[in-house]
Order: sequence, then structure tokens, then C-alpha cells
Amino acid sequence: MNNIFKKLKISLVIVGIVVGVGYLANNWGNNIEKDNTNESINNSNESINNSNEVLLSKLDKEILQYEDMESDYKELEYLEGILNNQYFVLINKDNKLDKSYVPSNLKKSEAKFLDYAQDNNLENATADAAKKMFDAAAQDGISLIGVSGYRSYSVQKGLYETRIEKNGEEKTRAYTAEPGASEHQSGLAIDILCDEYQTLDEGFEDTDAFRWLTENCYKYGFILRYLKGKEDITGYNYEPWHFRYIGNEEVAKDIMNRGLVFEEYINEVKNKINDLKK
Ligand code: DAL
Ligand code: ZN
Repeated sequence: MNNIFKKLKISLVIVGIVVGVGYLANNWGNNIEKDNTNESINNSNESINNSNEVLLSKLDKEILQYEDMESDYKELEYLEGILNNQYFVLINKDNKLDKSYVPSNLKKSEAKFLDYAQDNNLENATADAAKKMFDAAAQDGISLIGVSGYRSYSVQKGLYETRIEKNGEEKTRAYTAEPGASEHQSGLAIDILCDEYQTLDEGFEDTDAFRWLTENCYKYGFILRYLKGKEDITGYNYEPWHFRYIGNEEVAKDIMNRGLVFEEYINEVKNKINDLKK
């Protein structure tokens, strides 16, 4: 009898152990499942966060792209505006004016010209700007004198041919434009000297008048046109007396500050426009 009880006790203990282990195993399994579910909730939250971030950064990118496009468009408009300015016309050996071209709005300049100067007409806005510039110089004690303004095609032709006969072709072509290639035919150019120095040669650069002009001409829309060291680009020798009206003080300032010639500036603007249009 005792033996039977002993066996029964052992069996109960074994059953207890089996049930207990089963329960524990079951619970452990459940916990793992719960953990997995939490993890997958966390994961899905994380992926929502990630996709929000992706959406936001896409939006940021689109805003930035839009802002870039807007500033490119404004830049393009600004640059095209510079070239479309009616005074921004390039006249040189490769870009000639027609034989018949005469500016429609020439007027006699009120700025002081040499007594014997015949070419004292200028294009309307150029004449006004020159007058303002000469007056401002006078305020600073500088006495500027106009030497040559508008020259017709036929006057330029006469000048060119006479000089060829007198000085030969090479020297003439270095300083005198052939007919059609002179800025003077546009009425937008003026040769300037001063009371103290009245010879059209390089010596003019040693005068206070020349220094005043190089520092101030941009304020009136003028640039120095034929620079020293840029002869290969302009096609002419250095002319410290030849100033060109371009009708844009901001651009004139940029050109003068950076020591550029008109050809270089125009090419720069055209290249920028082409890059922006790509
Ligand atoms: N002296 C300049 C180049 C002209 O003749 O127009
Ligand atoms: Zn000139």
C-alpha cells in the first residue's frame, strides 16, 4: 500500500512538473509574440516617420528647386534687359553700322566743345549725360572739353582716307575706324580732353581730367572704350580720350571697376544667358 502511494506521489509530481513547464513555455511564447507585435507597431511607426521625412525632404527639394528656377528666371530677365537697352549697341570692326544710318535724335551738345570742333552733335540722351558730366567735373575744378561727337558715315570716310594717305594704312587702322565701324556714327561716343591738355594722344592720361573721368564717368553712363592691353579685343590702340555712352550707370560702373572693354562685357552677358537657358 505504501508503495502504491509512493508511486502515485511520484506520478503527481511528474504531472505537476509537465503541466508547470507547459504553462511556462506557453507564457514565454505569448510574451515573445507580444514583443513581436510591439516591435512591428514600433517598426510601422518608424516607417511612417521615415516616409514623412521623405515627403518633407521632397517638398523642401521642390521648394528649393522652385526658388532656384525663380532666381534663374530673374537673372535671365535682368541680363536680357541689359542687352535690350537701346544704347547697348556694339559697334566695331566686325559690327558695322549701315552706310545710311543717322541717329534720329541728334542734338547740339550743351557741353563745352573745342571752338573749332565741327562734330559737336550727340545722340539726345548722350548729349544730356555729357552736359551733366562736364558740369560735375567743373564743380570739382576740372575743365573738360569735347573734341568730337557725332560723325556721319561720309565724314568718317573722309577722315579715314585722308589719314591713310598721310600716315599709311597700319597707323591709321590702329586709331581710326573705317567708315561704318565708328562709334561716332552712332552719336553715342565723345572724345574728351581738357583745358590744360588739348592733344589727342596718350599724354592725356597724365592729367587730373583723365583721372576724374575714369573715376566718375560711369555715374553718367559712360565707359572708357579702348583700353591699354586690350588692343587685340577692341581692334584699336589705347585711346584715353574716347568715351562711350551705354545708358546704364550700374553696368558702366561694373565695366570700369573691373577694367573690361565693351566686347568682353557683352560676351560675358551672352554666355551667362546661354548657360541659364541650358
Ligand atoms: N578712334 C575711333 C576708333 C574711331 O575712329 O571711331
Ligand atoms: Zn573717338
